[in-house]
Amino acid sequence: MAAAGDARVLLPGSTVGILGGGQLGRMMALAGSAMGYRFVALDPADDSPCGQVADQIVAAYDDQEAARELARRADVITYEFENVDAGVAAMLMEESYVPQGSELLYTTQHRLREKRAIEAAGARVAPYAEIRSVDDLREAAASFGLPCVLKTATGGYDGKGQWVIRSEAEIPEAFETLSRAGTELVLEQFIRFTKELSVIAARSPQGETKAFPVAENIHVDNILHLSIVPARIDAAVQAEAERLAVRIAEGLGAVGLIAVELFLTEDGELFVNELAPRPHNSGHYTMEACRTSQFEQHVRAVCGLPLGDTALLTPVVMVNVLGEHVAPLLARMGRQDEAERRLGTSAKVHLYGKSEAKSRRKMGHVNVLASGCDAALSWIRETGIWEMPDGV
Ligand SMILES: Nc1ncnc2c1ncn2[C@@H]1O[C@H](COP(=O)(O)OP(=O)(O)O)[C@@H](O)[C@H]1O
Ligand SMILES: [Mg+2]
Repeated sequence: MAAAGDARVLLPGSTVGILGGGQLGRMMALAGSAMGYRFVALDPADDSPCGQVADQIVAAYDDQEAARELARRADVITYEFENVDAGVAAMLMEESYVPQGSELLYTTQHRLREKRAIEAAGARVAPYAEIRSVDDLREAAASFGLPCVLKTATGGYDGKGQWVIRSEAEIPEAFETLSRAGTELVLEQFIRFTKELSVIAARSPQGETKAFPVAENIHVDNILHLSIVPARIDAAVQAEAERLAVRIAEGLGAVGLIAVELFLTEDGELFVNELAPRPHNSGHYTMEACRTSQFEQHVRAVCGLPLGDTALLTPVVMVNVLGEHVAPLLARMGRQDEAERRLGTSAKVHLYGKSEAKSRRKMGHVNVLASGCDAALSWIRETGIWEMPDGV
């Protein structure tokens, strides 16, 4: 981990190397390029979303020679996903400047390590147990009660690697299916949350911290659908969530961004669900709605600049654009938008430059700026592009 004494200030003109060339790297490069930084990404896919707006080394993530070239070309290295190969991370630490270090990656790559670190930082997580056998699972499920959630400790995303166990009869199949991933398993008590929230905090190598406003997140089929900001919750809960995120960033010695996903229960309790040591989909709203975007903040943090002001400029709803939404969205963009004029909303479209609009694939997002979240939600509903879940 980078100690405070190791903090360097890299001014614009420096080159930032990014492990990964997806949309998070692309938006990082766009924000940083505006400030005068240069970017080079390492990604196996030619013409990656980030490679379209920055230099790219086309090679596998665990290609040591390619990583060494990235180290040679960059003054500072960051990453846009958490499953960075441990060998590559260690080599880059040797040969280059990686202010984020590898410890936070190591912690957040594994749900059990992550939960222990969150608890050590003084935040609550859902009751959980490490599961090594079907008997462990039976015992833990009996003590937590049903339903409960079995998860693989590593590699899960968008609800993959999870099984909500609703009856005892499912236990053997749930264990057997998730065991095939070949990683440890963890069982969590099911939290009957009223809302899912997230807070993105930033910490610089000098130890400065700042949190962005809380987002209220709505998922459809385990994929983020909407982020609503300001979240429709008490001011006291907002303040507590932001305080927790800063405490976790400090407790884990994070550098750069750390996204904290939370469950809010009926009686106002907050449980941390999981962390991501990088920009987060639920922070895309910051691009137009905050004084500083999460991407600019990340670049500032890893380059050792003072962090930017995170104040919210306007209510906003972010809606994700999946493969199936691209064609109707593009058709709409070519016309005058009568609903936008009537509702007083501004839809800021971000597309990631992915060529194949596969169903369920994240292709972009729209930040709908409005005088209030209701108007933004009305615009989204009126377009007819998205299926809106009940109760939004
Ligand atoms: N313990 C739990 N109680 C209730 N719902 C849960 C629990 N764990 C996960 N979920 C639901 O499943 C979703 C995905 O789980 P998460 O752990 O965030 O995995 P992923 O890596 O797929 O985002 C959460 O956003 C939440 O809606
Ligand atoms: Mg999640």
